[in-house]
Amino acid sequence: MTTLSVEAPATIANFGPGFDIFGVALDQPTDRITVRLRDDDAIRVYVQDNGWRVPSDVDANTAGVAAREFLKRIGADVGVDVYVEKGITPGVGLGSSGASAAGVVYALAKLLVDWLDYGLMIEAAGVGEAASAGVAHLDNVAASLLGGFVFIRSQRPVQVMRMDVPPIPLVICTPSLDLGKRKTQLTRSLLPKNLELKLVVEQMAYTASVIAAIENGSLEEIGRAINRDNISEPTRSKIIPGYSEIKRRVLEAGAYGCNICGGGPSVFAVCEEDLAEEIGLLMVEAFRRLGVESTLTITQASNAGVREA
Ligand code: HSE
Repeated sequence: MTTLSVEAPATIANFGPGFDIFGVALDQPTDRITVRLRDDDAIRVYVQDNGWRVPSDVDANTAGVAAREFLKRIGADVGVDVYVEKGITPGVGLGSSGASAAGVVYALAKLLVDWLDYGLMIEAAGVGEAASAGVAHLDNVAASLLGGFVFIRSQRPVQVMRMDVPPIPLVICTPSLDLGKRKTQLTRSLLPKNLELKLVVEQMAYTASVIAAIENGSLEEIGRAINRDNISEPTRSKIIPGYSEIKRRVLEAGAYGCNICGGGPSVFAVCEEDLAEEIGLLMVEAFRRLGVESTLTITQASNAGVREA
């Protein structure tokens, strides 16, 4: 086999209080990545990106960097053409760069080796993600590769725990905000440098609650657990117009929880399936009243990670 296509899912990193350690794979949207082995040792990236201006320069593209890193780590002296068909909007907190990186290493592993070392794949994909995000964090790549709910126990060495998720309806609203090309650097610069002990103690309780809620499978408990965060939400919410008010209304409308997707600016809510559309439209309308257009994605958590297309 010399060519393989895979689908790599979008993800919600942090999933409430799990800053840099939690990630959840989504049923939709996905990136499609096709890898074709070449006769020479060149690496080329071709991007179809719906006008999102994703770079096709190998050193600037998350999939290109991840491919080079993975080939180096397995000692493969081959070249590849990487075709990236973007389905996941970049720069909105849905793990777009992480998914492309995860997809390419999975496809390369399937084509070139007869084992799947997820630790190695996550590390290589993390190097790709860092090329685009400017900072290494493994929550998005691990969730996209493995599917389900993951938490990063250690970044070095890579230790990732994974749990299956129950059905979790997710309403995601993405406001059109121009946060510039270096969005991740911007949103990370907003984070607090220190946290008061009282807030650390609460944060530990919140993170433990997410894991317990996923384990027991109660949608209501999952929603309540993702609803709180002392690290990312208090500062990053300031760049999302109307965030506090929108969250308040979403909860009043019956959602169990609401928080920011990864570094933002997308906002997600957990609710019963039959409320999803109403809550989504409420979010869109609330942003519109503030003069901000937005797009709505109604999806659910998924146990499938990267898979052959
Ligand atoms: N954990 C990362 C952050 C995810 O919050 O910056 C970025 O998508």
